[in-house]
Amino acid sequence: MGAQAGIQTIASTMVSLRLIATAVMFLSAIAWAQTEARAQTSERSGKEVVDAVCITCHGTGANGAPKIGDKKAWAKRTARGLTGLTKNAIKGVRKMPAHGGNANVSDFELERAITYMVNKSGGHWAEPVSKTAQPSERSGKQIAEVQCVKCHLKGDGGAPKIGDRAAWIPRGTNGIDPLVRSAIAGHGGMPARGGMADLTDNELRGAVIYMFNSGVVPVK
Ligand code: HEC
Ligand code: HEC
Repeated sequence: MGAQAGIQTIASTMVSLRLIATAVMFLSAIAWAQTEARAQTSERSGKEVVDAVCITCHGTGANGAPKIGDKKAWAKRTARGLTGLTKNAIKGVRKMPAHGGNANVSDFELERAITYMVNKSGGHWAEPVSKTAQPSERSGKQIAEVQCVKCHLKGDGGAPKIGDRAAWIPRGTNGIDPLVRSAIAGHGGMPARGGMADLTDNELRGAVIYMFNSGVVPVK
């Protein structure tokens, strides 16, 4: 009787230890994922740069700065393309100070900030993808579960739902490539790169294939 109770105690201690070990593994996985996420966002987004720096003049249109949201003022300038505008933002032009007057803004962050302002002013430019801080490649499933589900799970704004074969098949009649190009550029309610500026073309492709194929096997 005593021996049996002892064995039971040992057994339940082992179960508790296993639970603790699982919890520790789980928590360190979360910590790792958070570190990864931070590493990927060390370069500021266009919005962050604009809100911190460019808004001072471009929010009001001070000194003839093209105002954010003023389609006419930006349309004249966007004809020069991102490269042309970035060149001027780097070295400054008339009352526009070099780097928006803040040397901490990198050339790449300038590109993102310009794209953000252009898109807030009637433009449809794809957010530039970082050439330096390329995150290690994520799987199509990971990307879809983190980002694309925001609209493609419930079909927000007419987004083809994950697993809805009837919605995906007609879109895929010309193969995956046109779908990937379309997802890079964005259109209608579909934001450029699915709203995740740092996705590589290849990662985006993986996410499209994942969503396209999900109807073949029932998704959870
Ligand atoms: C101190 C005020 C000020 C700040 C801060 C500022 N700008 Fe400007 N910006 C201007 C003015 C003024 C112009 C219009 C210059 C002109 O064409 O005469 C301008 C024009 C521009 C243009 C158009 C250049 C062209 O070739 O027509 C771009 C692009 C631009 N700014 C980007 C930015 C970005 C990005 C930031 C933030 C990082 C920023 N600016 C911060 C004042 C500012
Ligand atoms: C903010 C909502 C939103 C997010 C986030 C989003 N999408 Fe979409 N997506 C849409 C909508 C809406 C459509 C339908 C657009 C249309 O055809 O009018 C769409 C359509 C598409 C299409 C079909 C394009 C075509 O030409 O038929 C693809 C492919 C696609 N999305 C991929 C993705 C991927 C990959 C992600 C994640 C990285 C993603 N989307 C994230 C809203 C979203």
